[in-house]
Amino acid sequence: MKTNKRYTVLLNHAESGCINDPVFDSDSITEVQNYINKSFEHSDGSDGYELVDNIAEKSIKFWDEKEMKSLRLDSIRSVIDRCKFCGLHKYRQNTVFGSGNPDAELMFIGEAPGYFEDKKGIPFVGSSGKLLDDAIEECLGCERHKFYITNIVKCRPLDNRNPNAIEIGACMPYLKKQIDIIRPNIIVTLGKIASQILLDTGKPMKEMRGKRFEYRLKDRVCTVIPVYHPSYILRNFETIDKWKIDFKKISYLIKGKK
Ligand code: URA
Ligand code: SF4
Repeated sequence: MKTNKRYTVLLNHAESGCINDPVFDSDSITEVQNYINKSFEHSDGSDGYELVDNIAEKSIKFWDEKEMKSLRLDSIRSVIDRCKFCGLHKYRQNTVFGSGNPDAELMFIGEAPGYFEDKKGIPFVGSSGKLLDDAIEECLGCERHKFYITNIVKCRPLDNRNPNAIEIGACMPYLKKQIDIIRPNIIVTLGKIASQILLDTGKPMKEMRGKRFEYRLKDRVCTVIPVYHPSYILRNFETIDKWKIDFKKISYLIKGKK
């Protein structure tokens, strides 16, 4: 059985007696592992989420916020790694969950992994990723690791076609869970698909780009700024100035300026 950080954390807690849960009364490590594994095998993984969320709540005294977020994200990653909710699972080499700072104040959301992302299991590592990294460095003055980057769907559509409504519908609960855990103040949607899906609108990019919108999840509201997708910039290089203007707006928002 694969032992990842999530198991290690849970087992440490069980062994140190920090968790007052009947499941962890067992001193058999295999039994605990089986229980955790079984929880994640339920149809939508929600029992698994709840289990880890409960444990995270109980462990609040022992973990700082960032570690707790990271633990909760790990639990979703392991569900996604086994996910077969839509047809995209058939062709993937790797799922592309998301990367970066689990406690980021800003999240970038793209559309779907491409060839290189599928190979590496990391979002935006191809040529559009390079352009995104450059814009982050030049306009926001930092590296991508300061933020969190993910996509609307976590598996690559073959031939880089757009994900369809069924695939998006199947994968959205994962994105919502990521947003719920990370709790960013700002979300930057990259391109038409991510912007239209998150904002539940059919508006074209030219009406949305660089403007501020709201996204509500549970008790929270975050500011959403749609920008062009970096691959659109690569195909239409004359639009790069507009892209940089929009990134400057993001930088003002981060700094709390109007
Ligand atoms: N395009 C996207 O939308 N996401 C990636 O991760 C890579 C390219
Ligand atoms: Fe599951 Fe999302 Fe991959 Fe579809 S795209 S198989 S819903 S992780």
